[in-house]
Amino acid sequence: MIKVEVNASSSYDIFICSDLLKQVGESVMKLHSKARTVAIVTDETVAKLYLEAVATALFESGFIVHTYIITPGESSKSGTEYLALLEWLAQKQITRSDCIVALGGGVVGDLTGFAAATYLRGTPFIQVPTTLLAMVDSSVGGKTAINLESGKNLAGVFYQPSCVLCDVETLNTLSNETFCEGMAEIIKYGMLGDIALLEQLQNEPLAENLNNIIATCIRMKRDIVQNDEFDKGERQLLNFGHTIGHAIERQSGYKISHGNAVAMGMMIETGAAVKQSICPPECFSILKDLLQHFNIPSRIDYSSEELFNAALYDKKRTGDTITIIVPCEVGKCMLKKIKVDDLRDWIEMGLELCV
Ligand code: NAD
Ligand code: GLY
Repeated sequence: MIKVEVNASSSYDIFICSDLLKQVGESVMKLHSKARTVAIVTDETVAKLYLEAVATALFESGFIVHTYIITPGESSKSGTEYLALLEWLAQKQITRSDCIVALGGGVVGDLTGFAAATYLRGTPFIQVPTTLLAMVDSSVGGKTAINLESGKNLAGVFYQPSCVLCDVETLNTLSNETFCEGMAEIIKYGMLGDIALLEQLQNEPLAENLNNIIATCIRMKRDIVQNDEFDKGERQLLNFGHTIGHAIERQSGYKISHGNAVAMGMMIETGAAVKQSICPPECFSILKDLLQHFNIPSRIDYSSEELFNAALYDKKRTGDTITIIVPCEVGKCMLKKIKVDDLRDWIEMGLELCV
């Protein structure tokens, strides 16, 4: 079992190994000794696969268990679903000494985390991520959010879970496409700060190294979160590919997944950096090759104008400037503040290399 400790505004452990679902009951007992009831939030697909194992583990540890099941997909990260979940928690008389378990991918984690943070002004929650993306990124670091009609993740708070249990066996049931969406975020970590990880992804068999690769990404995110939990500086690096990625998701009506949109966003942001001589062309070719290696789609069907208009809703905009993240060398990125009006040209330049 790999254990990663996080010391942010609250401290918690992240565990990575097989067969962890059956330890959910014990974990809640250890961390929340006063809890009597546990509310599991999951989606329909994950419920069919893993709800019974988690509910049984909790039941056998003596908890009353209630389950809330959402429709899979980004549309469930909505204000309507959020309020319905809060209402349900109240109807089930969940108290602040009880515990909420987010069992699923990033959609379940983000929605549940936001509900846990705001229900009764804060109720403990545990992340049990079941996608690769959720293990390496969304379950770690305490960002919780829902989408507004105007854009992605526009309502949310920072709220850390009381632990994260990554049962890697759950990854076996992911579709190849969903698995590879997680690979896009793993490639992001390599581009941000780990050449060895980029080389490992290119040259070594994934299956044999997966647990260690997940741990490497989690440790990198942990270190950044500990330095800048509230996203004032360094943490924004983790948004490499996200300004344009979120614009692509929004523009596609969320038909393009988060992972794929981030991959496209990284391509555009890197392409623009190459065109501006901020980074060498090999940054772009390494990124492109790796995305191809993992069959991550990188064809972009939107114009610079469409993406620019969608990107105006980005959280990293302050007044007439916006911070984008660009590579400066292989395995290193930097924050670059630009005029909002110049973003259109950046996107245009990036798109030129992406054809
Ligand atoms: P997701 O939660 O929609 O899951 C993808 C699909 O996989 C869903 O259909 C789900 O039902 C299915 N699924 C989940 N686990 C499964 C399993 N083990 N076997 C079979 N099917 C399974 O998407 P995601 O990619 O996990 O997460 C994307 C979301 O995460 C986006 O909303 C994004 O904004 C958010 N995110 C948040 C953060 C953060 O820091 N909070 C970071 C990155 C991404
Ligand atoms: N996924 C970006 C962050 O957690 O900051």
